[in-house]
Amino acid sequence: MTGAHVSATLEQLRLVGVGRDELLRTAVKLIHDNSEHYDWTGIYLLKDGVLELHNYLGAPTEHTRIPVGRGVCGTAVAENRTVNVPDVSALENYLSCNVETKSEMVVLIQKGERILGQIDIDSHTRNAFSEEDEKFLERVAGKLAEIVAD
Ligand code: SME
Repeated sequence: MTGAHVSATLEQLRLVGVGRDELLRTAVKLIHDNSEHYDWTGIYLLKDGVLELHNYLGAPTEHTRIPVGRGVCGTAVAENRTVNVPDVSALENYLSCNVETKSEMVVLIQKGERILGQIDIDSHTRNAFSEEDEKFLERVAGKLAEIVAD
């Protein structure tokens, strides 16, 4: 599926009255199924300076609440940008969820200047994320911003 397909699917569900939480769970599933390199997929929502894990697919993580500035997730918010880490072992400010994780990508869910949350993907493959993944996730994040801001 392309980012446009995922967005259209979410919009259709929204139009028939599916609620926010279920839309966010469906989004994680559709994203997770997009690539066999996506080994952990989650959505965090930003609340009072803390990223709270809304839902995920993959191994359970202890990092369900991450303050802005901490780890890859908190860095993306602090620096207001997409973060693509080809090799997590090279990072100092990193919160490990799973010893098998080799690379990670975080894309912000943003409405204008306001950061509402993020999509976080971990991969067991080093350097798993391309510009194409980034575009795909940014497209989906745009739709998620409408859903979360509603
Ligand atoms: N590795 C992240 C923490 C979240 S887990 O990947 C699920 C980080 O450094 O912020």
